[in-house]
Formats: sequence, C-alpha cells, structure tokens
Amino acid sequence: MAKLTVRDLNVHGKRVFIRVDYNVPLEEKNGAMVITDETRIKETLPTLRLLIEKGGRVILAAHMGRPKGQREATMSLRPVAARLAELLGTKVNFADDCIGEKVEKLANELPPGGVLLLENVRYYNEEEANDPAFAEKLATLADVYVNDAFGAAHRAHASTEGIARVVAKRGGQCAAGLLMERELQFLGDELENPARPFVVILGGAKVSDKIKVIDRLLEKADAILIGGAMAYTFKLAQGFKVGKSLVEPDKTDMALAALAKAKQRGVQFLLPTDNTVATPVVTDKLNKKGKPIIDLNHPRTNTEPNIPDSEEGVDIGPASAALFAKTILSAKTVLWNGPMGIFEDKRFATGTNAVAQSVVDATQKNGAKTIIGGGDSVKAINKAGLGDKVTFMSTGGGASLEFLEGKELPGVAALSNK
Ligand code: 3PG
Repeated sequence: MAKLTVRDLNVHGKRVFIRVDYNVPLEEKNGAMVITDETRIKETLPTLRLLIEKGGRVILAAHMGRPKGQREATMSLRPVAARLAELLGTKVNFADDCIGEKVEKLANELPPGGVLLLENVRYYNEEEANDPAFAEKLATLADVYVNDAFGAAHRAHASTEGIARVVAKRGGQCAAGLLMERELQFLGDELENPARPFVVILGGAKVSDKIKVIDRLLEKADAILIGGAMAYTFKLAQGFKVGKSLVEPDKTDMALAALAKAKQRGVQFLLPTDNTVATPVVTDKLNKKGKPIIDLNHPRTNTEPNIPDSEEGVDIGPASAALFAKTILSAKTVLWNGPMGIFEDKRFATGTNAVAQSVVDATQKNGAKTIIGGGDSVKAINKAGLGDKVTFMSTGGGASLEFLEGKELPGVAALSNK
C-alpha cells in the first residue's frame, strides 16, 4: 500500500499517538458498564503489541457513542481500559481527559512500552468540528501519529484528520496501523482485481443506502444478489405488489437504473424469487422510543410474485436461499454487506443464516476469498457462529460502506505516503 505503516516506523522511546475505534457496544449490568462485543478492541492488539515491542510509548485515543460534547458517564472509555489490560496482559493507564496538563504529564511519564488510554475525545465538541486548536492540543501528546481506527476513518474529525495534519506539518510521521492496513487491503486492493467469479451479496433496508455501492460494484462483479427490504423496492420497480413490506416508492428509478446497467454490462442480477412473509399487527405495547410495538404474526412462505396487501416480506424464502447458494458456491471472491431479512428475530433469520453458511462453504470448498463488509452482516455471521470461518470481517460500519462506494476516507488521506 502507498501509505506509511507502523512496520516502517522507528518508535523507540517516542510518544506514539494511536487513534483506535473502541466504539464498542456497552450494556449496564448491576450498575457497571459491560462490553458486549470486544471485536474492535481485539483487532487492534497486533498493532499495539508491535509498537510496545518496538519500545514505543503508546497513547491511545478513541470515541465512544455520540455524547455531543458532554461528559456522559455511560460513554466513558474506562471499562475499555480494564478489558484492554487483560487482553494485552500489561498495565493500561487511564487518563480521565484527552487534553490538558494532567494528561500531558501522564503521557510524558510513560516508559517505553507503556500504555495510556485517553478518555472519550467526543466529550469535546471540538473533536467532531475538527477544530484546529483542539487538534493542536491533541498533537502535543504525539511524536508520531498512527491511525488504526478504520471504523472512524470516514470522519474528518480532530483525532482522525486534524491531528495528522499538525504532526505532518512539523515533520512528524503519520502511519496506518495493521488493522487499518488489513481493512484497506481486503475492502480495497482485493476487490480491485478480484479472482473470478466475483459475487456480491447486498442486503439491508434501503436501496438509497446502498445504491452507490451497487453502482460501483456493477463495474466489477460477475453477479449481484439482492436481499433484505431493499429487494422490495426492486420488486415494486418491476411492477409487483409488495404488500406492507418496507419499501422506498420514490427510489424505484434508482432500482430500474441499476437493473438496466446490470443488463448492459452482462452482470447476473438476482432478486429473491420467494419470501417469508408475516402479518404485521400494531399492539398497545410501547418500545423504548415510545412507539407502538408491531407484532409479526403467522409467518409463511410466499411463492407468488406479488405479496398480499395485508402481509410484509421479512426474509428471503427457501427457493431464493437455494438459488443464491448455487451462485455463491461458484465464486472465487465474495463480498457480503447487509442481512437478508429481520435476522434479529429467530423466525426470520433463516435466509441470512443460509447465506452465511453458503459464504463459509465457498471459502472452505471452493477456496474463495470471502469478505464481510461490516455492520449488520458481521453481527449476523457472528450470531450464526460462523465468524471465524470467512477470510475477512470488516470492523467498519459507515466507513466500510463509504470505502466500498469508492470514496477517499479523510482518516486515510491524511496519512503520510511511503
Ligand atoms: C462506528 O461505530 O461506525 C464508528 O465508530 C463511527 O461512529 P459514528 O458513526 O458515531 O461516527
């Protein structure tokens, strides 16, 4: 890759300021905040171990949630420091702020190989505003800057972008961490010239969220498989009835344009041929946001092209899963982004689980490189217990999507070239 990486650095005795993405899910249990998925923490360990081994003084910065400039106790990174210490098997100091004299003192006192985690950078509004003065303050802690926060690299914030400019301006090095390098390799380089057939599976709720990815991948893929609620917008565009399914009636033009482009480029474009449908019933129970909970009753398989007015599509059906499996199994490269249905509900996870199994089979039986593009598809494949059986799972959500759209990520652009 064209960017400097941590492998290229001589960091002995230097203060290495590392931006990581420790925005992990937290749940309150018995008055304490508990981490419910530590993947993002674990994935930074190779970078941290390398820099510790090289004698760097490791200063970690991260955000948690969206506290909007307030010191929101439930969004503290303190629980992450404790878990990181266990995973690294070394002491992790915690600073209850990310700038200021006290923090500078803690950073300056770190011995080579020592680790310090700073408190949530989003406790300051200046972080998201990419305020130059705030970036300068962060940069007082840095001799060298490393970005290993792929998941936050689509944000031009002070700790992801501004600080890199300050460090570079004074002649310092700004490098990618090993996780960042792997993400860019799998979501970037590997998909530039993929081994063929290259099969793309896209799901999720909205065509509008994925249309730029579809458009770009139509230039590269041999087949595109569509599931999730997004498929109903395509169905509607083709003139079918979609009942009460989640749909974007104003985006049918986009769907038709994608279908036309696929035809013109000879890309196989597969939509579900059958669906699991259920009858939505509004209950008098309220959810956390105060909205009525909708029960989905009487699930069944619908093999007709139209979905009846009273029913909603909630998953792909068995025939679609079999059709998708055939194509996925023929692939040498697979990219999957977005679930096939409401996989959070066990009754409607069958299609998503079947796709997860097909992706694993393509990896194991066909030697395919299989790449899971982050967000809900990673959750789904982990839930199915198959997460360790694919080639690569992205730690990004929005960042993965923007990168797959072909956008330059500000957090990457700011790093030094080799
Ligand atoms: C994520 O969880 O996708 C990243 O940590 C970025 O978080 P954000 O969407 O709040 O910027």
